Amino acid sequence: MSARSARGEGGFDLVHLKSGQRSVRCRTHGETMHVGTGPSTEAAELHIRQQRIVERAQAHAGGPFVIWDVGLGPAGNALTALDALRGVAAPVEIHSFEIDTAVLEFALQHAEALGYMAGWEPALERLLAEGVAQPLPHVRWELHRGDYLTQLHNAPPPAAIFHDPYSPARNPGMWSLEVFRAARERVAEGDCLLTNYTRSTAVRVTLSLAGWCVGFGVATGDKDQTTIAASRLDLLERPLGRDWLRRVRASTNAAPFRDGHYAPGPISDADFAALQALPQFG
Ligand SMILES: C[S@@+](CC[C@H](N)C(=O)[O-])C[C@H]1O[C@@H](n2cnc3c(N)ncnc32)[C@H](O)[C@@H]1O
Repeated sequence: MSARSARGEGGFDLVHLKSGQRSVRCRTHGETMHVGTGPSTEAAELHIRQQRIVERAQAHAGGPFVIWDVGLGPAGNALTALDALRGVAAPVEIHSFEIDTAVLEFALQHAEALGYMAGWEPALERLLAEGVAQPLPHVRWELHRGDYLTQLHNAPPPAAIFHDPYSPARNPGMWSLEVFRAARERVAEGDCLLTNYTRSTAVRVTLSLAGWCVGFGVATGDKDQTTIAASRLDLLERPLGRDWLRRVRASTNAAPFRDGHYAPGPISDADFAALQALPQFG
């Protein structure tokens, strides 16, 4: 993980990654953000390029292209999206969700060392102070403070979701059926992609049971695959199929996340029957 780390205030450390980039480590959760490659590389590979954010924002009609940035943290994903959106003329809204902005405040104090924040400090300070900022002439950025599940109803329906809380083991509430279902309901009939860094079978089961179509996501860093979900099956290049379903049945860790916690175990007969009946696996 890190070669060296600088002890920080408020439970965070600044660490060096193998890639040479620097990132932030949360002591409470014992997790380093973007540990595989670094903040801007992982954000670009996993969320921006995989979701074709620039092309889709450019082609989007009927109002702003809405991105949900779930778990703003030290803003690696949001700022990498802003870098990519500089050349886009179409209107974009970024809605960031964050339960505790201490990590962003810590990162801002170390903006120079982190590198990827360069030039965006005034927008970040405004976002923290006022809850809304205009980092680019065509981009409006809003911060929703508090628990994502209670806040997501205050944001317009998304076309893209960067789902980036802490890991399912440390932050199970954010990977729950209730959370994924609420986001899916907010999308309704719209076209939306959701990307995240895990390849966990249990998370994929949870997303599927929450109403998302689920596929194999791109490799990034030392992960050979990740997960992408979509509101419609034909938005996915590599949907999970019947082979995956067989692996779910055999897995000892495929039960969905419910009620904000996770009890590892095999999938129940009822959940497997519901999964198998989904149109994706028909
Ligand atoms: C891995 S960090 C996010 C990294 C960030 N996306 C980036 O690109 O730099 C996870 C963040 O999710 C936030 N978070 C965890 N649970 C949350 C919840 N229930 N609602 C909103 N934010 C939450 C944490 O406070 C933390 O800042």
